[in-house]
Amino acid sequence: MAQRKTKSIYTCSNCGYQSPKWLGKCPDCHQWNTLLEETVPSGRGKAHRSSEPAAAAFRLDEITSNDDPRKQCGISELDRVLGGGIVSGSFILIGGDPGIGKSTLLLQAVDQLSQAGKALYVTGEESCLQVKMRAERLGVKPGQLFLLAETALEAILDKVREINPDYLIIDSIQTIFTTQIESAPGSVSQVRECAGQLMQLAKSQALPTFIVGHVTKDGSIAGPRVLEHMVDTVLYFEGDPGHPYRILRAVKNRFGSTNEIGVFQMSDTGLREVKNPSEIFLAERAEDAPGSVVITSVEGSRPILVELQALVSSAPYGTARRTAMGIDHNRVSLLVAVLEKKVGMSLLSHDIFVNVAGGVKIDEPAADLGILAALASSHLNKTVPRRTVVFGEIGLAGEVRAVSQPELRITEAARLGFTRCLLPASNCSSVEAPEHLTLCPVKSAQEALELLFEN
Ligand code: TYD
Ligand code: MG
Repeated sequence: MAQRKTKSIYTCSNCGYQSPKWLGKCPDCHQWNTLLEETVPSGRGKAHRSSEPAAAAFRLDEITSNDDPRKQCGISELDRVLGGGIVSGSFILIGGDPGIGKSTLLLQAVDQLSQAGKALYVTGEESCLQVKMRAERLGVKPGQLFLLAETALEAILDKVREINPDYLIIDSIQTIFTTQIESAPGSVSQVRECAGQLMQLAKSQALPTFIVGHVTKDGSIAGPRVLEHMVDTVLYFEGDPGHPYRILRAVKNRFGSTNEIGVFQMSDTGLREVKNPSEIFLAERAEDAPGSVVITSVEGSRPILVELQALVSSAPYGTARRTAMGIDHNRVSLLVAVLEKKVGMSLLSHDIFVNVAGGVKIDEPAADLGILAALASSHLNKTVPRRTVVFGEIGLAGEVRAVSQPELRITEAARLGFTRCLLPASNCSSVEAPEHLTLCPVKSAQEALELLFEN
């Protein structure tokens, strides 16, 4: 029998980019030292196997949909990020740094799900006993939850056929391997092949499947980005290890919006939902401190009030430092330039630090006016009145531009007891002021700062 030839190929463990030769830097995702060698059988083309029956084609109106295809897992923050619940047969990837709380979240989600149906939790990292101890601590009720400590894909697939679960959880995809491929567990080809086979199972049996994927900085194991294109939904669990808050963000969702976020707090009894994130993020606010401003940010359908902090101090040496945490530093540089050129504040020889309190990340332009106000407040050493909230985008000419969903932002500000709101003039005409909240329309950065620091 002729020997099957193999050839070497180099695959990026971060994004899956493939190259016939080794490269120090991945040309696709620009990570260093992430290309690893793998051997693949040459001529591994996708020949059409005529013995398999072809799938039938349907006219659109011949396809019937069930009325309630979504199942809620009882954690409303998770359900909302998923687009209203779990769609049958959906393949969901949960990515995040090791230790951020992915296993905890899924174990809590499975609690409710296993009361109504069977759930199989495959753990490749911990023993069944360890998972059981954690489940007890989290107060998971003994429902129809089955644990399987296994890493061989073939054995997992056999068990799925035997148990026939309604939900499948794989924790984590990087520990699972198939004997069909020679490379080590966690390599790109293993991760991709195992995920591919699990996805076929999910689609053919209409079995909702969650897979956990660790994100690693050093590229030693394949990251979830390698799988992003094939799964239905990609959720990232993020948070600052120094803060108890965790944010679940949808990056891709075939069954819902990608703007939604879920906010959780890690406690000694697991993750707790944070229903009113604004109240928590503002709880530790240092009131009447220069450099602190509250903005209303909208994530998906949900307004969140957060505190922005800026510190402007004179730099002792030649080059001033510009540091931004939780916010794009390019926007901070742009706003510093606007303050210099349009407002006439001299910040060139100052160190500038901007931070979003609570470890939150803000990436919408509506935060511009807040950043500008925080910078000016710190520089002038004047406080922004404590019951004032601001939002608006700032253009290069120093003009304040309209942002999306002004009503949502205003309503949330009024609900939390703010009495004055600076907003873009062009947004003001389309909204009605709630009781006890005065709207102050502004057209330019200059005008906004005059209003804030007039006395
Ligand atoms: P885990 O879910 O194991 O993280 P991942 O699966 O993403 O690697 O979470 C581990 C961290 O969470 C660990 O640092 C301890 C913390 N934790 C709590 O603070 N309280 C709890 O009830 C649990 C289960 C974990
Ligand atoms: Mg884990």
